Amino acid sequence: MKNKARIVLSVVGWLVAALSAHASEIPRVQKLNDGGRLIVNGKPYLILGGELGNSSAGTAAQADSILPKLAKIHVNTVLIPVAWEQIEPIEGKFDFGILDHWIDVARKEHLHLVILWFGSWKNAFSNYAPGWVKSDTKRFPRAVSADGAELEILSTLGTETLKSDRRVFSALMTHVREKDAEQQTVLMVQVENEVGYLGRGRDRSSAANQLFHQPPPVALVQSLRDHREALSPELAANFHPNGNSWQEVFGDAADEVFMAWNYARFIQAVAADGKQAYPLPMYVNAQLPAPAERAGEYPSGGPHPYYLEVYCVTAPAIDFYSPDIYWPDFEYWIHRYQFHGNAVFVPEARLESAPFNAFYAYGEAKAFGFSAFGIDSIDVSADHAGNPSAMEQTYQALDDLSEALVPAQALEHTRGLVLHVSSPRPTQTVALNGFLFEATLSRSWPAKTLLTDDGAMIVVQSKPNEFFIAGRGLVVTFARDPDRDDRVAGITSIEEVSRVDGEWITQRRLNGDQSNQGRQLSMSPNQVKTYRVILYTTERERHAQ
Ligand code: DGJ
Repeated sequence: MKNKARIVLSVVGWLVAALSAHASEIPRVQKLNDGGRLIVNGKPYLILGGELGNSSAGTAAQADSILPKLAKIHVNTVLIPVAWEQIEPIEGKFDFGILDHWIDVARKEHLHLVILWFGSWKNAFSNYAPGWVKSDTKRFPRAVSADGAELEILSTLGTETLKSDRRVFSALMTHVREKDAEQQTVLMVQVENEVGYLGRGRDRSSAANQLFHQPPPVALVQSLRDHREALSPELAANFHPNGNSWQEVFGDAADEVFMAWNYARFIQAVAADGKQAYPLPMYVNAQLPAPAERAGEYPSGGPHPYYLEVYCVTAPAIDFYSPDIYWPDFEYWIHRYQFHGNAVFVPEARLESAPFNAFYAYGEAKAFGFSAFGIDSIDVSADHAGNPSAMEQTYQALDDLSEALVPAQALEHTRGLVLHVSSPRPTQTVALNGFLFEATLSRSWPAKTLLTDDGAMIVVQSKPNEFFIAGRGLVVTFARDPDRDDRVAGITSIEEVSRVDGEWITQRRLNGDQSNQGRQLSMSPNQVKTYRVILYTTERERHAQ
C-alpha cells in the first residue's frame, strides 16, 4: 500500500477506535513506581488467567467446550493463540471466522481474552507461518546456522517477512477493533511468542553477517550509555561503549545482543503498525534460561532479563515484558521482571505449581496478572470429597480478595510466600508495615509430622491492624518487628471468611485448638481458605530484674 494511503487509513482506524470506544476507554497499562497495572473501563483489572495449550484454539468448536469449563473455575481471562496460518492461509485473504467465534463465546461466558500472536515465531521456530511463507525461502529467508544450514526459523532480516507480518498483524488488529472496541472482550495482545535464535551464536545468513560486521547503531549504544545505572548486571559487565564493532562493544555477549536488537526491531515495527490500527496494550514473553543453559540452547536474543534493556530502547511500542516461568526458582525470575516501569504479568506458569505461585505473584511481585499454562487440561470436576481443583480454589480465593487486593498492591500493602518441603529454609518470614508473619509448613499435633509438602499464602492489609490471609498448608505466627518499635503484637481474632454477594461472611471463628490457644493461624493443610486476622499491639512492659 502506498505510504500516504496507509497513513490516512491508520488515522481513520484510530479515530473509529476512539469513537466506537466512547463510553469505555481502551484498555491501557498504567505504570506505577514499582510495576504497573492494567486499566479496563477506567478501573484496575486483575487478570486471573489461563493460557490454552497450543492446539486448543485451532477450531471454532473448541471454544464451545473449553470456555464454559474455564468460566466455572474463576478464570476471568483466557490467553488464546491466533496463528498466522489460520487467519491468512492464502496470501492477502484474511479469515477471522474462528477468532470471532471465540470472542462470541467468551462474551457469553463473561470472560476476557488475550490474543497470542503466533506470527513469524513461536518458541523460536516459524511453524505457525502459513505454507506460502514456509515454502518460499527466497522471499522469506531463513536464519542460517554456524555450519551453514538453513533453519526452520525465519530470519529477522527478511524484508518481505517483516512486510507480511506487519500487514497481517495490522489486519488482525483492525478486525479486533471493528468487532470488539465497544465490548472490549479482548484486553491485550502478545506479539509473537518466545522469540529468539536457537543454535550456536547468531543468525549467520549473509544479511546478518553483513550487519554484524558494521558498527552497532550509535543510538543504541548512546541510549545504553545514558541508562548505564539501570543495566542488568549481565549487560553492564559486557558493555564497552568505546568500542567500534558489535564484538568490541558487547564482548562475549555480542551475538546475543545482536539477536536481541534484531528481534526487537522487527517486533517494534509489527507492534507499532498493530497499534495504529487498535492501540491495545502489547507485550512480549520470554523463554527463560534453564539452569546452566547457554544462549542458543535457550532462544538467544529473546526478551529475557539479561539484555532486556536492548528491547526497552529499541521497541517503545511494547508496553511491558513478561516471563514464562517453568523453572523451580519462580521467585527469582518474577523479580527480574519487577523493575521500574515494567508492569508484572506472567503469561505462562507451570500448571502444577501455579496454585501456589499465584499467591506469590500477586502478593509479593505485585503482578496485575498471572496465567497457568495448559489451563484447558485441568480436570474441573470436584474430587471424591467434593473439593474443587487446586487451581480453582486459588482463583476463587483471589477473586474474593480482588477488591481489597488491587488497592493494597498499589499501596505496597501486600506480601506473599511459598514454602516447599525442599525449600532451603523450613521457616520464612515476611514483614508488612511493622508486623512480622512467620510461616512454616503445616504439621500434625502432637506428633508434629508434616501434613503437606507445599504451602503458600498471600497477606493483604486492609486496615492498620486487619489482614486478609489466603492460602493453605502453613502455620503462621505474628509478631511486631522489633526494629520498628518496642510494641508486642498478639491475635485479637481469626475468622475463616468467604465472600457472598460482595460481602465477607464469617464461616468460623478460630479459637482454642484451632489457633493453638490463640497463638497462631493454622491454615487448612490441603484446601485454600481465606482468613481475616485482627492483631492487637501493646506497649512492652519492662519488668525490673
Ligand atoms: C512455552 C510456549 O510459549 C508455549 O506455547 C508452550 O509451548 C510451552 N512452552 C510448553 O508446553
